Parts: sequence; C-alpha cells; structure tokens
Amino acid sequence: MKPETKKKVLLSGAKPSGELHIGNYLGAIKQWVALQDTHETYVPIVDLHALTEPQDPEKLREQIMTTAADYIALGLDPTKVTIFLQSAVPEHTQLMWILNTITSMGDLERMVVYKEKLAEGKQALAGLFTYPVLMAADILLYKPTVVPVGEDQRQHLELARELARKFNKRFGQTFPTPKAFHAETGKKILSLQDPKKKMSKSHGGMSYIAIADAPDKIRQKIKIAVTDSGSAIKFDPITKPAVSNLIVIYHLFSGTAIKDIEEKFKNSGYKKFKEVLAELVVAKLKPVQEKRHELLENKYALVAILNDGAEKARQKASETLKEVYEKVGLT
Ligand code: AMP
Ligand code: TRP
Repeated sequence: MKPETKKKVLLSGAKPSGELHIGNYLGAIKQWVALQDTHETYVPIVDLHALTEPQDPEKLREQIMTTAADYIALGLDPTKVTIFLQSAVPEHTQLMWILNTITSMGDLERMVVYKEKLAEGKQALAGLFTYPVLMAADILLYKPTVVPVGEDQRQHLELARELARKFNKRFGQTFPTPKAFHAETGKKILSLQDPKKKMSKSHGGMSYIAIADAPDKIRQKIKIAVTDSGSAIKFDPITKPAVSNLIVIYHLFSGTAIKDIEEKFKNSGYKKFKEVLAELVVAKLKPVQEKRHELLENKYALVAILNDGAEKARQKASETLKEVYEKVGLT
C-alpha cells in the first residue's frame, strides 16, 4: 500500500467585527479558496479577536454567522476545510497564556497595528495590546506551513515566527516556523475614499465594498471613489494610487492582465472605466450573495458546520497543547 502523503497545512482567519469586504476577499480569502484542495485547511472565525474592540453582543452574534456564510459563499468548501469559531476551541487561549510568558513587552510595543489603533483614538486596552499573542497561538496550534494574510498582518506573523523560534530554542523543537503568503497584487487593497489607507471596516462605509452590498450600493461607492489627477487609466501605484487600486480590483475580479486593462480603457475616462468596473464587481458578487442568502436562511445547518469544524480543530489543537504542556513542565 502506498504511504499516505501528508498534506501541507494552511491556517488563516478573519475577525467577525463587521461585514467582510472585497479587501478581505482579494487579500486573503481568495488564497484560502485556491489552496484548499492541496492543503489541510483551518479557517477559524476569530471571534475572540473581534472583542479587542467594543462590540454590541447581539450584533456580534449576527456578524459571526454572516462571516461563516461569507466564508462558504466565497468558495470555501466545508466538506474539505475546517471552519470553526476560535472561541469554541479553548486551546487557543490556553496556548496564548504560555506564549505570553515568552513574549517581550518591547516586541508588542513595536506593533504598528496597535500604534495605529491608538492614533485613531482607540482605548489602550490590554486585549488590544496582546492581540498578536493570541494570533500566534491561533497559528502555532495547527503547525501550519502557510498562513495567507494581507500585508497589514505581516508584522503579526513575524511575531508568531519569532515566538515559535523562542519556544523551540528553550523547550526543544515543537513548532515549524510558519510562512506568510501574501497575494502578489491583492495584499493591500486601498480605501476607495483615501488611497493612503487600506480598505477597512473602520474607515467608513463608503471606503469599502462589502461582500453583501446591494448592486446599487456598489455602483454608488465606485462612482464616488476618489481618483487621481489626470484622466488616464494607468497603473502606477506611486503617482496614481487611487486609479491603480481600481485597476487591481478589476484585474483580480476579471483575471485580465493589468496591461490589457490599460489598453482596453486607454480611450475611456474615469467615468466609463468606473461604470464597467462596477458592473464587473456586481456580476462577480451576485452568485456569492445568492449563496450567502441561502446559507443564512438555514442557520441550523451553518451551526452544524461550525460545530463539526470545532470538533475537528480541537483534535489537532489539543494534541499540540498537550505537547506544549509536557514540554514546559505542566504535567
Ligand atoms: P480582518 O477582517 O482584519 O480580520 O482581516 C482578515 C484578512 O483580510 C487578513 O488576512 C487581512 O490581512 C486581510 N485584509 C484586511 N483588509 C485588507 C485589505 N485592505 N487588503 C488586503 N487584505 C486585507
Ligand atoms: N489578526 C488578523 C486580522 O486582524 C486576524 C487573525 C487572527 C489571523 N488570528 C489569525 C489571521 C491567525 C491569520 C492567522 O486580520
């Protein structure tokens, strides 16, 4: 009998802190979908991370379900991948504690996302500060080889790698150092309202396109998206960041090469280009929205998927935690 070849492991997650948007999809989830057949895939909905900023409990409950529906509607196949709630697998917070004991304050103080949040006026809560340690625990529990995330998570992932190395050095080889995987062109989709910022749920409703946005909302958001000076549809992220961002969105949704997009629209102004782009995004999201709607009609089935996922995740997570407890002397 042929020995079973062990699949490589993928882990990544998204926070249910609002609506998922096309930045989440193009920068991260699209890669999970592309790799799900070749990787043993773990995709938690990181609900504990959502709590690092104030959430309305009822809304959070709803957002957890819509995020689960979005994951599947965007192409993750629950019969192949493990979709689960981070909070349903207590090993995440248990490993976090162990990792806390080898994390230096200096490393956390250097985290750009944390500093940005404070600059935005967010309260300096301990949970927000130690959030990258929980993320490291999410990752290391599953010993993944690949962690596909957007550019904004690069530094957090570097911390996870550093903690893996530190732990291994002190307690013996335990964790493989996980590799980041950033989409070549989609790793940083920019805000439609301010191309100096990434597309984000926290920068106002007109700055992002939600997966669930109605067609007219999508048309409106693209219509009023900021553009650069000049009228050429030219890809140049330095001098034309806003238009280049729209070109990247077109490229990633259509598969058309960037130079072919420039050629196709060389005689169109921004208005025409935006109209065609809006129709493309509307058409691409239509089947996703239909599937999403269908999934949310049957919440019991969705909960069953999450319960099943949590059970599978716990098998792997509890094995790793047991190994860690033994190594640090807790048994
Ligand atoms: P979050 O919703 O912040 O939990 O993000 C989930 C995933 O989407 C992470 O891998 C992020 O790096 C990625 N992501 C979020 N915003 C963007 C963006 N504007 N461009 C590319 N990737 C993003
Ligand atoms: N911190 C990530 C974000 O804000 C979400 C996240 C939590 C994550 N745990 C993770 C991403 C583990 C990848 C792997 O986007």
